[in-house]
Amino acid sequence: MNPILEFFSTLLLVIYYWLEAIVLTFIPASLRGKSVAGETVLVTGAGSGIGRLLSKRFAELGARLVLWDINQSGNEETAEQVKAIGATVRTYTVDLSSREAIYKTAQQVKRDVGEVDILVNNAGIVTGKKFLDCPDHMIQKTFEVNTIAHFWTCKAFLPGMIERNHGHVVNIASSAGLIGVNGLADYCASKFGAVGFDESLRMELSMQGKNGVHTTVVCPYFISTGMFEGAKTREIKVPFFKFPAILPILKPEEVSHRIVDAVLCNQHIIMIPRIIYIFVLLKGFLPGKCGEILSKYFGASNFMDTFKGRNPN
Ligand SMILES: NC(=O)c1ccc[n+]([C@@H]2O[C@H](COP(=O)([O-])OP(=O)(O)OC[C@H]3O[C@@H](n4cnc5c(N)ncnc54)[C@H](O)[C@@H]3O)[C@@H](O)[C@H]2O)c1
Ligand SMILES: *[C@@H]1O[C@H](CO)[C@@H](O)[C@H](O)[C@H]1NC(C)=O
Repeated sequence: MNPILEFFSTLLLVIYYWLEAIVLTFIPASLRGKSVAGETVLVTGAGSGIGRLLSKRFAELGARLVLWDINQSGNEETAEQVKAIGATVRTYTVDLSSREAIYKTAQQVKRDVGEVDILVNNAGIVTGKKFLDCPDHMIQKTFEVNTIAHFWTCKAFLPGMIERNHGHVVNIASSAGLIGVNGLADYCASKFGAVGFDESLRMELSMQGKNGVHTTVVCPYFISTGMFEGAKTREIKVPFFKFPAILPILKPEEVSHRIVDAVLCNQHIIMIPRIIYIFVLLKGFLPGKCGEILSKYFGASNFMDTFKGRNPN
């Protein structure tokens, strides 16, 4: 292409999609979102927290659910709740830190229900200790569950999506996958990995012209599911203003609702709450020292001081 023409067409396309995105933010997901009725949705870590709520939300929207978790009783509980909504559901007990177990279970799913339309990589774990106190096996497991498992589940289910040019991979990462946090070295690194995998995979699908296969990466701040039990946010006192908290711990119901809306709209990335977008922007152009000071002020740096987690022992 003529270089001048290429320059202006690129510029125009960037402006066009930017304006389109601005206009679309004013149209609610219920109006512009796609339908997932009749789709097969696989959720990992469905036995608790966000995974359970996402499963129920997709069930309400008419999807068929495939639930994966290492915790069989938690998974069965979710299945009961999904059934009560009226959706069909199948449960599989699988350890996501095992590649063999993932491939084997994926084969079983394909035999039982066929191809998966929406794959939600949600299961996650956290060590919650200062880097040098993290046991080696926990560092390894954190990466296996939070990052590497995504590679194996995608290897299992993406080919079917690409073949039909229809599908969606949803990766539940974290705002800790965009900004490093004191006391979460292994967790943050694993989530940065998940964010990088999602972004690259999306580029690859796009360059292959697979415009029917979408990916969404989800980056929420901390949520009161119990995963980060004991950790505390900070109330910020500003002269003349009363802010309840700039970064409050999020409610699981609200987060899962917003995640599903983002998926319905094929949104690439969602950060919750929205102020995270500002922090990521600031990180890009403020000197590192400013980031440290702000992180401390907003309470992120001491968030893990009182952490107990799911397994205090
Ligand atoms: N809770 C938060 O503050 C928060 C914030 C941002 C992102 N996230 C992410 O959201 C996702 C869901 O978190 P949650 O708060 O619902 O956690 P949760 O602990 O309530 O649920 C996690 C589920 O994953 C399952 N799981 C753990 N290891 C597994 C394994 N090896 N194989 C199969 N299943 C396994 C658990 O049994 C559990 O049912 C995680 O990826 C987490 O990192 C959580
Ligand atoms: C498994 O799920 C059950 C039911 O929700 C819960 O009571 C139990 O604590 C979970 N076990 C583990 C190891 O997380």
